[in-house]
Amino acid sequence: MPTRLLIKNIKTLVQVRDASVLKVSGAEMKELPCIDNAWMAVDNGLIADYGPMEDFPGVEDWKGLEIIDCEGKLILPCYADSHTHIVYAGNREGEFVDRINGLSYEEIFERGGGILNSAKRVHEATEDELFEQAIVRLREVISQGTGSIEIKSGYGLSLESELKMLRVIKKIKDLNLIPVKATFLGAHALPLEFKNNKQDYIDLIIHEMLPKIAAEKLADYVDVFCEQNYFTYEETKMILEAGKKHGLIPKVHAGQLSHFGGIQAGVECDAISVDHLEYCNDADIELIKKSNTMATVLPGAAFFLSLPLPPARKMIDAGLPIAFASDFNPGSSPSGNMNLMMSLGCVQYKLTPEEVINACTINSAYAMHLSNEVGSITIGKKANFFITKPISSYAFIPYSFGSNLIESVYLNGVKQ
Ligand code: NIG
Ligand code: FE
Repeated sequence: MPTRLLIKNIKTLVQVRDASVLKVSGAEMKELPCIDNAWMAVDNGLIADYGPMEDFPGVEDWKGLEIIDCEGKLILPCYADSHTHIVYAGNREGEFVDRINGLSYEEIFERGGGILNSAKRVHEATEDELFEQAIVRLREVISQGTGSIEIKSGYGLSLESELKMLRVIKKIKDLNLIPVKATFLGAHALPLEFKNNKQDYIDLIIHEMLPKIAAEKLADYVDVFCEQNYFTYEETKMILEAGKKHGLIPKVHAGQLSHFGGIQAGVECDAISVDHLEYCNDADIELIKKSNTMATVLPGAAFFLSLPLPPARKMIDAGLPIAFASDFNPGSSPSGNMNLMMSLGCVQYKLTPEEVINACTINSAYAMHLSNEVGSITIGKKANFFITKPISSYAFIPYSFGSNLIESVYLNGVKQ
């Protein structure tokens, strides 16, 4: 039977938006529309209606429904995580210890570790093994409030292994648990065997990987790690343009370790998002401002690698929209916990609770073309939301860093 829920006495229904709002920018990010002492109805997996308790609907209007009492608890739309690498094999805690003992992320990569370490493990893993490991991570992030996700390839770095990763992502998508977007990141690093002929690897991406991926409809986006020792501005543009010809929309790993032209390449190729942005100057901010590209900050990666912080406060003050994503991956951010990303946003970036909630819901949904489906409490959107434990206010969520304040998660109106 289709789910029909009527939730009453919600202490605060958070992020209630009209369907026309697809992202919020600049000063708008300080606003977080809420209804205190609210009710919400769910029908057939979608948000059907809501309002203040003074207007609570008569139960006779709602036959066969389940009534939930939310006294003292808040409801938020699930987080949208627009940048992850949750399909990978094994972990890299050895490199974590190497970094504690003084090696840098770049030095580890130069010794054949980092992304190349993960690529070796993906090469050795079967499709089923990759799927099993990814599902455990997906279940974990869902329990932490994530209700839509983007997942990248990029630990394959060969035709066969990139396809293997993308087929795993397709299987996850086909579970229809939460909305999933797939990103082809063949240009994540240069495989060792192409060390002396980089252009051959770029040709492989453009002439063999992309056509095959497009033919099998395995990706929505094409992404490049634009960085020193990885891919240049020119190479990034070449790969993004080739992806566009196959109907894939660009995203870029930009400005993570140096100022290297990734932001410019992304904006010039109409990327839906440029992500990382540790190295983002005033000219970059102006460039993004003139575009439809979402500036996406990945607080977990900057924290875990002790990088200089992206100028998120400055970007919002300049009028930009900002999204947050977890970057869940084995090397630079082995966590997909969006509650923690919000705490980092408040503490390290001086964003307000309203700003970080907008960054983790409506704006991150926009960064994967899903803000018409998820990312806010809106009539007709998917009923992907979570109920908190009894708490005093939404600011208590980023404030209580490291605590789990989520009591239950609903996907398509069904309790998980
Ligand atoms: O988004 N920056 C490049 N790619 C990933 C990290 C990959 C890895 O270390 O495995 C990131 O941080
Ligand atoms: Fe990443």
